[in-house]
Amino acid sequence: MEKYIPLSVPNLKGNELKYISEAVESEWVSVAGPFVNKFEKDLANYVKVKEAVACQSGTAGIHLALLALGINKNHEVLVPSLTFIAAVNPVTYVNATPVFLDCDDTLTLDVDKLEAFIQNDCDFKNGLLINMKTKKHIKALIVVHVFGNIADMERLMPLCRKYNLKVIEDATEALGSYYIEGFYKGKYAGTIGDIGIYSFNGNKIITTGGGGMIVSESSDLLKTCKHLSTQAKSNEKMFYHDQIGYNYRLTNLQAALGVAQLEQLESFIQIKKDNYFKYRALIKTDNLSILDFRKDIRPNYWFYSLFIKDFKAETKESIILALEQHSIQSRPIWGLINEQPPYIHHQTNDLSMAKFYWQHVLNIPCSSNLSPLEVEFVAGVILKNKGLQ
Ligand SMILES: Cc1ncc(COP(=O)(O)O)c(C=O)c1O
Repeated sequence: MEKYIPLSVPNLKGNELKYISEAVESEWVSVAGPFVNKFEKDLANYVKVKEAVACQSGTAGIHLALLALGINKNHEVLVPSLTFIAAVNPVTYVNATPVFLDCDDTLTLDVDKLEAFIQNDCDFKNGLLINMKTKKHIKALIVVHVFGNIADMERLMPLCRKYNLKVIEDATEALGSYYIEGFYKGKYAGTIGDIGIYSFNGNKIITTGGGGMIVSESSDLLKTCKHLSTQAKSNEKMFYHDQIGYNYRLTNLQAALGVAQLEQLESFIQIKKDNYFKYRALIKTDNLSILDFRKDIRPNYWFYSLFIKDFKAETKESIILALEQHSIQSRPIWGLINEQPPYIHHQTNDLSMAKFYWQHVLNIPCSSNLSPLEVEFVAGVILKNKGLQ
């Protein structure tokens, strides 16, 4: 029986057990405790910001960000169609309405199409961007840094500033990616917009089992996020709650894992980078390749995208099956969010690229504990597949 090669799994060989034991021995296992503060500080230092707020998940982080920015039922939020649904669901938690936009060849938001939408389909009146079709105020945009790539923030930010759009960076998949050139040189994914969110879900580059972190240059926004994540309690002793809050704070146990994982993040990125370039060198035929990251960033190389040029549903299915037969997990890219039952009646724009990449991309194993031999094995199984080359 061949060894199972999963898509993306945790790598817990550092100080995880040591720190978890310390947390257990101290009996600080819930939402208070020194590891929560330490994890926030360490992560803020890593992405070079002043402060960060830990929460239960990336989804909770996006929810808190929308609440802190005052997004509500009177607003629309621009979102990508090609992403994980958790990037969009929080928009509906606050009763706002998502409007779907397309991606470009980086799989992140297409800024040209965003600009065309603003110019052709919106009015900018009294400092508010109004959707001409619905007459609603578009107050924010969620930009997702897909698979560790970063969207074109240099073009996106001035456009959003011009039209008073708040920018929420869903950097759940891009912890560690940063610009190496241009206006944002040295800036990390998640630290450029108004507020950024990371996820420490089990398949992410570092994990706390489940968890998230919010970063922002605005202390006020972070203060609001933290307040809302701890039941909006404004008087500890008297149990006075000034708003409806949530139980969204990260626990000390999870944070203990996070501190240990963060210590290893750069080494995980190095392994992922090596494996990424190995796959790229091996899988290079007329029909198959591994998608690029942007040239002006240091990506975190989180997910690898196998691109099938001559797409047929059977081709993709046959690769998935061949991999399965060798105990290798693969995963088609997400279904488009606007085609999921809760969103089929929402406004969309030209989504041709999202549709294109939805058809042509398959994600292949990328865990940071994947060995070079396993990379060769996976590539070999893909390449042996008849009718592909
Ligand atoms: C793009 C994107 N947004 C949001 C999330 C939600 O993060 P979490 O699973 O921590 O809630 C994820 C990952 O799960 C994601 O990939």
